[in-house]
Amino acid sequence: MKQLDFKHRYIPSPLQQHVVDNFDQKQRQSQEGIRDDKSNPLTLLLLHGTGGNEDDLIQVGQMISPSASLLSPRGKVLENGMPRFFKRLAEGVFDLEDLKFRTNELADFIKGSSSVYGFDLDKTVAVGFSNGANIAASLLLSYSETLMGAILFRAMIPFIPDNLPDLSNKKVLLSAGMFDPIVSKSQIQSLFDILEKSRANVTLKWQQSGHNLIESDILDAKEWLSKNFE
Ligand code: MLT
Repeated sequence: MKQLDFKHRYIPSPLQQHVVDNFDQKQRQSQEGIRDDKSNPLTLLLLHGTGGNEDDLIQVGQMISPSASLLSPRGKVLENGMPRFFKRLAEGVFDLEDLKFRTNELADFIKGSSSVYGFDLDKTVAVGFSNGANIAASLLLSYSETLMGAILFRAMIPFIPDNLPDLSNKKVLLSAGMFDPIVSKSQIQSLFDILEKSRANVTLKWQQSGHNLIESDILDAKEWLSKNFE
């Protein structure tokens, strides 16, 4: 089995569990060429915020899509003992060299996981919060083949790409806090503009919140996901 070099959790979809339980039926179906769409559910790539870990967003993932498989890595960078997905020089000031390296490393992990666990990259949606949303945006801008879409809670622009990628088949939800002390409204607007110029289908939802998640983040994400992917 390929080594996956991020500490992580993978929770298969309850639908796939059912498929494993019905292995004989499944084999018969595939011999008879019957396609069962339920056996190919979405996979949510869960990316936590600074100081979080692979457990943090499991419940959020289950609330947003009870039928999805969940892949949740822990960021490898430590800032005063707090896991993150890439280094920063100050709050909101990123170490771009490290961001590039870590984004590549995470893209490799996602591709490796898809072959180890048997899920499709074109049925994978990132769900990132804060630092996790920032690296998810970086993945979209640099390795868009690893995702079919993303839900970005409290994201900033990770970097300004020299060349805009073609994101014409990607769907992105930006869920932003009206009173976020970390992410300014102009940051969100610029991220929205970059994604739109890259031809992604972007939805921006403003929440009556600061940097923390609130119930309507989850409800909006659930609705957006089922409208766009299920
Ligand atoms: C970041 O460093 O990615 C952002 O400042 C968000 C955070 O982690 O606080």
